[in-house]
Amino acid sequence: RKPDIAVFVGSLSARSINQRLSLALQAAGDDLFTFTPVAIDALPLYNRDLDGDLPSTVVELKRKVLAADGLLFVSPEYNRSIPSALKNALDWGSRPYGASAWQGKAAAVAGGSSGALGTAIGQSHLRMILTHLDVLTLPQPELYVKVTDELITEWGEVLSEDFEKLLCRFMERFARLVQARVRTY
Ligand code: FNR
Repeated sequence: RKPDIAVFVGSLSARSINQRLSLALQAAGDDLFTFTPVAIDALPLYNRDLDGDLPSTVVELKRKVLAADGLLFVSPEYNRSIPSALKNALDWGSRPYGASAWQGKAAAVAGGSSGALGTAIGQSHLRMILTHLDVLTLPQPELYVKVTDELITEWGEVLSEDFEKLLCRFMERFARLVQARVRTY
């Protein structure tokens, strides 16, 4: 069986360039993994009053995370951090106290933006949060992508050979991390 990866896209936009990047990464990792997209748009805002009786959307999120062998986060940067929708999902998955779904997972982090400097600070914030949640993140290669129609089509088709190679290398390294994490942790 191929390891299964739960995929989180930090943008809720139907025209998301991060969704494009996520499709391109899933295509690049097709031989190595199966993928389970996890929707975060139907989650209520986190409220600890609901910790004892989690909403069904949260139960489903936690079930998918617990079943996954690894996690892939593809997210935009919003105002030099991660989008609130993604933080909300991370907060829900970490509760109730002592029953976090994230613990012990391996994750890869990538991000696409419209500008050249995009997502470096957002990804750094995300790595910090994941470390706190006891998730080991793939250190290299880093993937800060300025997404244009010439690089990735809206269907996630990659138009550059060099970029395609980078995506494949990223997924191969991630596969090694997922394997190592499963064996040793
Ligand atoms: C942005 N954008 C942005 N880009 C960036 O590189 N650094 C940033 O801090 C921000 N901040 C930011 C805040 C908010 C509220 C929005 C809506 C956008 C631009 C962002 O990269 C661009 O809109 C991407 O297209 C968003 O990704 P999706 O939604 O297309 O996946």
